[in-house]
Amino acid sequence: MSRKGKVTVVGAGFYGSTTAQRLAEYDIFEEVVLTDIIEGKPEGLALDMNQSRPVEGFETKVTGQSTGPAGEGYEAIGGSDIVVITAGLPRKPGMSRMDLIETNAKIVRNVVENVTKYAPDAVLIVVSNPLDEMTALAAKVSGFPPARVMGQAGMLDTARFSYFVAEKLAVPVGSVRTLTLGSHGDTMVPVPSACTVNGKPLSDLLPADEIEALVNRTRNGGGEIVGLLKTGSAYYAPSAAAARMARAVAEDSGAVMPVCAWVDGEYGISGVYLGVEAEIGAAGIRRVVERDLTEDELAGLRAAAEAVRAKQADVASL
Ligand code: LAC
Repeated sequence: MSRKGKVTVVGAGFYGSTTAQRLAEYDIFEEVVLTDIIEGKPEGLALDMNQSRPVEGFETKVTGQSTGPAGEGYEAIGGSDIVVITAGLPRKPGMSRMDLIETNAKIVRNVVENVTKYAPDAVLIVVSNPLDEMTALAAKVSGFPPARVMGQAGMLDTARFSYFVAEKLAVPVGSVRTLTLGSHGDTMVPVPSACTVNGKPLSDLLPADEIEALVNRTRNGGGEIVGLLKTGSAYYAPSAAAARMARAVAEDSGAVMPVCAWVDGEYGISGVYLGVEAEIGAAGIRRVVERDLTEDELAGLRAAAEAVRAKQADVASL
């Protein structure tokens, strides 16, 4: 098996470290780099992951590197093809993702300045919250073409929705297809018209009020877990989603995934980072894929675009 390329994960919290682990276990990369500002943490986690290689049987090398306030240590990410940015604080119970905007904007800005310097050709996958705004900020600070910057949210929200449907109907998760668009927040737009179970429309299998209840649970899916954990937020499903996006880039697969992407005319919406379906390849977003939406879904998507647009303008000055 030929391994190639280098992928960096910035931030060695639970989200970042599980993402690094998944990427390493794919065994398709030459190197996975994990960084953090906490001295010794990424080095320790990398050593631990490397020691799992003989057991799990993967050869991808994991490098841990702590970084300093003036960018010390960032040379370790040099030449990365993909950089996943998980840096920033998670929510506490009762907080909305938007409550993190000022703190995380400062963190993400600093990270992106360093990433841009050492990995100028990388595809950026942002997962820091509030997601859509942090993705827009990363694009602005990096100066990268919009197609080379994307955010992870739709994959996660869709996975949650699919799990809830599967659980409700007691069917395998693999038989369920769902979709969410819009923001990774209050203006998330679950798209019931695109949801099927074994190819049958979801609306044939569940009454509208039950679908609505699953939609609401999906919209609050992250908050439900934050409330249970009490410290920190979800990371198994989020890291699975981010790692799959990175894999699609690494393999130039052309997979169509719901992601936060630059929208330029699709659905009559322009000039905003928003959750849409997009085809992913080695250079990032190949194209945004438009599908037929019901009037309500389209109105929801446009409302999400305007809400995100307003916040993305604020974030530029943070
Ligand atoms: C969530 C966070 C990671 O939805 O945004 O769990």
